[in-house]
Amino acid sequence: MYAGKARAYTNIALIKYWGKNDEHLILPMNSSLSLTLDAFYTETSVYFDETLTEDSFFLDGKQQDSKQTAKISKFLDLVRQQQNLALFAKVDSKNFVPTAAGLASSASGLAALAGACSDALNLQLTKTELSRLARRGSGSACRSIFGGFAEWQKGDSDQTSFAQTVPSDNWENELAMLFVLVDDGMKDISSRDGMKRTVDTSSFYSGWLDNVEADLAVAKQAIKEKDFNKLGQVTEANGLRMHGTTLAAVPPFTYWSPDSLKVMQLVRLARQKGLPCYFTMDAGPNVKILVEKKNLPALKLFLSEHFSKEQLITAYAGPGIEGIPVER
Ligand code: PMV
Repeated sequence: MYAGKARAYTNIALIKYWGKNDEHLILPMNSSLSLTLDAFYTETSVYFDETLTEDSFFLDGKQQDSKQTAKISKFLDLVRQQQNLALFAKVDSKNFVPTAAGLASSASGLAALAGACSDALNLQLTKTELSRLARRGSGSACRSIFGGFAEWQKGDSDQTSFAQTVPSDNWENELAMLFVLVDDGMKDISSRDGMKRTVDTSSFYSGWLDNVEADLAVAKQAIKEKDFNKLGQVTEANGLRMHGTTLAAVPPFTYWSPDSLKVMQLVRLARQKGLPCYFTMDAGPNVKILVEKKNLPALKLFLSEHFSKEQLITAYAGPGIEGIPVER
């Protein structure tokens, strides 16, 4: 038996990955930049064992159905193929999220799986190689190999598409991200389906591509200068542009719910009151607010008039992937 385990933290993109150039290799249309967070993470163990007759996938102790297991098997197949290995595996994952609010993330999940496989098979991968492997599971997972700020350079091949740390002089430790959980009961469109529909059909998609590399340059400059407003402004603008592309997709869609808009409005109001903070959103209605640690208490107080304590979850900058001892 080959067993391994890893813990990976989720990341939130400040400059978004939106659209694939190669569906199979998961090469993105554009480079992206994220902040890895401490509050949500996944621990995954993998056991490749000769006695197994099929792959199985347990999430938080519960065996997952064939559809969920197939996604995991697809990633395991890649590893098996690369390593010339013919063993089925049991995958045991635990998501650590502060509430059961649907914040489980493919980034932490697939990064942890890649790390667990690498550990089990003693692959001795560099961080770059591990990032490339995680990318094949879920694009954004390649950024969760690194702590703090990470940039995923889109590259143009499997070899050249991976994430790396953005030097920051630990500035991320002065920042926080406040999650505002809004539930709208809408049926989800996965990031995978959403970006595909947008790339294939949205007449706004070219506008997205026209701006994103410039946004990335501004974000990196802001990190270098430790300029919070500059980073916040480009984060918010880039997120809005990403979400704008969905409105021109065929058929059109949006991840925004009425409460998402309410949070955006409150963030603007907070700024008018002299509280610097900026929002971003991903493939769902929850809003994430970037704020300096020193202003977090004031922001929470301001939002607490509109949202319950349970709806407001704080995250700080988190570490990169970690290997942990596996139980046998
Ligand atoms: O890696 P995926 O397939 O979960 O896509 C992530 C897409 C966004 O969260 C919307 C943006 C990003 O860069 O994380």
